Amino acid sequence: MKKTPIIIDCDPGVDDSYAIALANSCEFFDIKAITPVEGNVPAELTRKNALALREMLDIDCRVAFGADKPLVIPYFNKITGTHGEAGVGTVKFPPSKLGPDEKPAWDVIYEEAVKANGELLLFAVGPLTNIAIALRKYPDLPKLLKKFVIMGGGTFGNISSTGETAEFNIWVDPTAAKEVFEKLDVYMVGLNATHAAELKKADFDEMIALCGDNEKAYLLRELSKFSMRNAFERGFDNSVIHDALAIASEINPDVLEYEDYYVFVEDDPQKKNAGQTVIDLERKSGKEPNCHVAMKVNQPLFAQMMKDLCKYYGTK
Ligand code: RIB
Ligand code: CA
Repeated sequence: MKKTPIIIDCDPGVDDSYAIALANSCEFFDIKAITPVEGNVPAELTRKNALALREMLDIDCRVAFGADKPLVIPYFNKITGTHGEAGVGTVKFPPSKLGPDEKPAWDVIYEEAVKANGELLLFAVGPLTNIAIALRKYPDLPKLLKKFVIMGGGTFGNISSTGETAEFNIWVDPTAAKEVFEKLDVYMVGLNATHAAELKKADFDEMIALCGDNEKAYLLRELSKFSMRNAFERGFDNSVIHDALAIASEINPDVLEYEDYYVFVEDDPQKKNAGQTVIDLERKSGKEPNCHVAMKVNQPLFAQMMKDLCKYYGTK
């Protein structure tokens, strides 16, 4: 069976970890690289977590380190409770045996895109700094991609200082996001979609019960126990497994539906809504749609995919 080569650019991250595990469970995907970027936690931790996830999940792929700060504005560098001190909830990783690729993320993304000869499916589920650098360095990258799917943006935000207009991944590096949206055909799985796919406590209870007792299942069980506690006892948004929905949408397209709209990224740091993906939902801009926006979600299907994921690793 012909597998689709994929790369996951990410900032692991609790939901990034679910996303990588879900991608790795898909028999149609061939993960070529994981490329960590600054985001949920500083790059030194997203890098460490990317290396550790590769080994814990037995993924035969490259891990190529990306940026440790946004293109222009400073990195916000605040550890939030959403992902825990080390960025992966309560998960404890053994020291990684394998190191990173000798090349940086942007070079590996391009190299794998050339090798895949137009078949590469690129996911970005963190800030878009690496993708923007790759596009600056390799202007022909767009025509080498089969599809580009992000978790980011949306019809509302989750950054309170912007009046909840900006979503975290875009807000961390709005300059990068603006350049990416201008250069690539973006499939945007935003907060309006991920929150519509929010898991219920009963879903987590089932996921935890389905986890086996091997090392890979340990990862999912710890992620799920942390996420459930954080969401239903501490009021964080961990019941929304944002990044996994982006991956799930390419495993089973029935899990969400896209609508095409004109979208631009507000990147003026002086503006209160800097980092917002301004979506022309009323179609009044007079501009042609330039983005596929995830609008409808099948929450029961997504929840079932997450339960199947836990069951899958219980047998590995
Ligand atoms: O806003 C949610 C997004 O920001 C997710 O990708 C999460 O991992 C963080 O990166
Ligand atoms: Ca992420």
